[in-house]
Amino acid sequence: MVGFKSAILSGLLASTAFALPTVGPEPLTNVGTSDPWDPASYQKTFITCPAVDRSGPTPKDIQLRLGYIDVNPTAEKTLVLAHGWPSMWTTYRKQIEHFGKDYHLIIPEHRGFGDSEHPRDLNASNTMQDFMNDMICMMDHAKASSGVCVGNDFGAQLCWEAGRARPDKFIAVFNVGIPYVTSSTMFVPTLLLSVLNPSFGYQVYLSEAPEKAAAEMDADPLSVIRATAQVAQTKVPENFLKLRDGFLQPWLEQDRQNNYTEVPFSGIMSKKVEDYMVSAYRKQGFLNTFNGYQYGNRKLTYDYDVAQGNFSLPQPTFTLFPTKDPVSNWEEFAVMLKSSDFLPNTKNATIETAHWPHEEKPEEFNKILEDWLNSDVKF
Ligand SMILES: *[C@@H]1O[C@H](CO)[C@@H](O)[C@H](O)[C@H]1NC(C)=O
Ligand SMILES: *[C@@H]1O[C@H](CO)[C@@H](O)[C@H](O)[C@H]1NC(C)=O
Ligand SMILES: *[C@@H]1O[C@H](CO)[C@@H](O)[C@H](O)[C@H]1NC(C)=O
Ligand SMILES: *[C@@H]1O[C@H](CO)[C@@H](O)[C@H](O)[C@H]1NC(C)=O
Repeated sequence: MVGFKSAILSGLLASTAFALPTVGPEPLTNVGTSDPWDPASYQKTFITCPAVDRSGPTPKDIQLRLGYIDVNPTAEKTLVLAHGWPSMWTTYRKQIEHFGKDYHLIIPEHRGFGDSEHPRDLNASNTMQDFMNDMICMMDHAKASSGVCVGNDFGAQLCWEAGRARPDKFIAVFNVGIPYVTSSTMFVPTLLLSVLNPSFGYQVYLSEAPEKAAAEMDADPLSVIRATAQVAQTKVPENFLKLRDGFLQPWLEQDRQNNYTEVPFSGIMSKKVEDYMVSAYRKQGFLNTFNGYQYGNRKLTYDYDVAQGNFSLPQPTFTLFPTKDPVSNWEEFAVMLKSSDFLPNTKNATIETAHWPHEEKPEEFNKILEDWLNSDVKF
């Protein structure tokens, strides 16, 4: 049985996105990698996928034009790489280079991000199952009958749910950080989450005041991306992620105190990739990238799980725990949540990075993923 404290934590993690370290030496400045990798050299595949608009009294069938990156489509083994927030398919550039030789890679641009359309309704038309169905639509189009779901941040939550609901399509799951959270315990609203863990304050902001948050972020997408794309040794401002009515103020305050002209660049990506991300977020703005945080979407996701009634993932699973992501000690949470009780075939490892290990330590990340694919996954 899962106790009350664990139940609270389950809910707490149910809507978690990135978390960042708060201690360490001075931030790096302007040391972008000289990595020549160019996102513009990849062409997105566009398809039309069925979706549902739940804004009215009766759900309405709609269609969405969605983009994805299709790499090495004739390879037999498929990996589906699910990105997080505020992120993009480009977060997997080092996996494209490494795994793209032997694997078929399907990299969604989630609905609401970049060039992918979204339902007009933010609140209730974007459940985890909706995102999962988008991925299955892409897999069908790319002629991949099944694949391994690899996720980080929001994408990890998505891969857990996809593996749970459709083990026939997602034959194994490899996730960064966020442990599996069962819906077998109570539903916890976002406001309660931030009372329990102050660093989830930003989730209240994104869910309670999405238009205001979008206006703030649309005015300065570069700073939003820099503030979040940090590394293990970054010193993150004290109040970052804790505010419930704003996002960038702690960084702008730090800039003022240090006479910086801009939010320091962590160097986790090249300037070319950063420019691409900024322009991608300019296309549609931030508003519809907040879809995962809305009350309706979270509650309907939970209700769907409860109605299905099965809470375990029978297939091989793996959780990679970053150890310098101290707003949440994910490994400790996983133990408290008894995640592995719902994962009969699971493994894990740790990696010394902040929130984005596949970008911060790609060689180490790729080796861990590759070893596990070779030893545990039967394609
Ligand atoms: C910022 O600039 C002001 C005015 O030039 C100066 O007095 C102050 O010492 C500077 N602060 C830092 C941290 O360099
Ligand atoms: C959000 O969606 C939920 C679930 O469908 C619904 O109960 C709620 O009334 C909606 N809230 C708003 C503000 O539309
Ligand atoms: C959970 O239930 C759904 C609906 O019956 C089914 O499609 C899915 O395969 C089940 N998952 C597992 C792991 O049995
Ligand atoms: C990680 O795996 C080890 C076994 O290799 C296990 O003892 C431990 O409980 C696992 N940690 C979590 C959080 O599941």
